[in-house]
Amino acid sequence: MHPAVRRLSCVFFALALAAGLRAQSTSAVQQNPNWWKNAVIYEIYPRSFQDSNGDGIGDLNGITSRLDYLQRLGINAIWLTPIYPSPQVDFGYDISDYYSIDPQYGTLADFDRLVAEARKRNIGIIMDLVLNHTSDQHPWFKESASSRTNPKADWYMWRDPKYVNGHREPPNNWLSVFGRSAWQWDPARQQYYYHRFYIQQPDLNWNNPQVRKAMYDVERFWIRHGVAGFRLDAITALFEDPQDRDEPYILGPDGKPLLDAWGDKEVESTYTDNLPEVHDVLRELRQVADETTSRKVILIGETYLDSVSDLRRMYGAHNDELELPMDMEVGFIGKLDVPLFRARINEAETEINGDQPLFVFDNHDNHRWDRFVTDDHRIDLGRMLAAVLFASRDTAMMYYGDEIGMVTTVPTRKEDVRDPIGITGWPKEKGRDGERTPMQWDSGIDAGFSAAAKTWLPIPPSYKTVNVAAEERDPDSILRWYEQIIALKKSDPALHSGEEIMLNTTDNNVLSWLRKSPGGEAVVVACNFTAQPQTVSFDLSAQGISGDRVKTLMKSPGEADTHTLRHIALGPYGVYIGKVE
Ligand code: NOJ
Repeated sequence: MHPAVRRLSCVFFALALAAGLRAQSTSAVQQNPNWWKNAVIYEIYPRSFQDSNGDGIGDLNGITSRLDYLQRLGINAIWLTPIYPSPQVDFGYDISDYYSIDPQYGTLADFDRLVAEARKRNIGIIMDLVLNHTSDQHPWFKESASSRTNPKADWYMWRDPKYVNGHREPPNNWLSVFGRSAWQWDPARQQYYYHRFYIQQPDLNWNNPQVRKAMYDVERFWIRHGVAGFRLDAITALFEDPQDRDEPYILGPDGKPLLDAWGDKEVESTYTDNLPEVHDVLRELRQVADETTSRKVILIGETYLDSVSDLRRMYGAHNDELELPMDMEVGFIGKLDVPLFRARINEAETEINGDQPLFVFDNHDNHRWDRFVTDDHRIDLGRMLAAVLFASRDTAMMYYGDEIGMVTTVPTRKEDVRDPIGITGWPKEKGRDGERTPMQWDSGIDAGFSAAAKTWLPIPPSYKTVNVAAEERDPDSILRWYEQIIALKKSDPALHSGEEIMLNTTDNNVLSWLRKSPGGEAVVVACNFTAQPQTVSFDLSAQGISGDRVKTLMKSPGEADTHTLRHIALGPYGVYIGKVE
């Protein structure tokens, strides 16, 4: 296939268009233009969710077969990590064809069925759009690499070498996020190409208008197939410094450069990330999404940024860029530090022009939330983090398996590792397999994930007790907690969209806040961030609330009930949520 200006046959195009229109016509979730505000977005790593054909790899029909479960959980949208044809070096983030589905996952018809079935359940499908790079097996790259004069010669980031004492060297010190130089020598062109990620993921040249057009056509194609939005992969990395300046080194406490897992001096990303040009592209992507007037197509950004002001800019000066840049400042705080959580949540509440925050605690690139605590209180902590996620004024993004308390299961032997960075970076960098293990549905063969003799990653030993079937039978399970708190986020006016005001702001053990709806409904939330019991007392007179009566909406299992804001007892990592009367 050669899809620069992709020559789709008329028949194929007509079928695709018809399928897209069909999918659009039954739109329910996206008919409300604000459907994404205060929504719950569930990330699925398709390889690991449900295998329907016994090959040990999850697939689209498997996901479709689990939609009733997801509907019961109460989610509004599914973000699918990439399902396009791919050599799977980076498990789908190396795309070789943007217009199809990898046969491992199914067909375009399976995708259309998933969209239609999800929509019947009021669930939107969000596609992962990888714009920064393609696979080196993509026809665009093959053509670009074939000579310095071909029509796509300038579609990627090609540079001449630097010669030092007669030795050929890369043009500068930029490093790949996945280790080693970000420049790969290409003998045919006698030039280097830039790859922010794996060698097999060459970066596109976003200064080239043809590249932009090609990607906007991809966006249109999936909108025609009925998607509810896009998660824009590595979106802050589209542009690099035009002068190719060396990055500054990151210095350790001794003033010497830090070394990464591969033994290279770590560098900043001043010249390779979050350059201002990305905002032009975001506006253009937004315009394409807005061409669809029959429903609201949203843009979510993978935005690891350094400050709330950078985050604010991602929404656009005129709300014309991303609906939901991910706020990584809250969920990826490395420790359970109440003042830090309070400050970061408060920033999201007060310093992004009233836009909608998107909070997230884990994903397929980072250890699951169990990274915070591994002791007996793990599930208590899970309930507490769920309270922070779902009882805040935010759109909540969760990762499959969070709701049953799946644990990160890092490989213990190098020979078991599947993620390439875990192989090249072993033992310092063990890769991302630990957070990508198969979903644990029941205590049977392959945890109900597959019928294969061998699954693509092993089933973690925890599946005997940590699984959907067991937790559906247990009224005190974390799964039940997730169902209840998600339902409350939707049904309670204060928790749905009320403002969020931090309470007891000198307390270093308990994070507490008030949610207050425009209609005057008020809910207090108290989360014990410690393994020791705590008590809290609230005086809401500064918030214009004089009474102290409260009605419990949710509390961690085993907590004593209360009717007064003057005394709320919390066990280890305990949660109390109550409606002020
Ligand atoms: C971010 C994705 O989440 C990650 O899994 C991937 O490896 C890189 N972008 C490169 O696409």
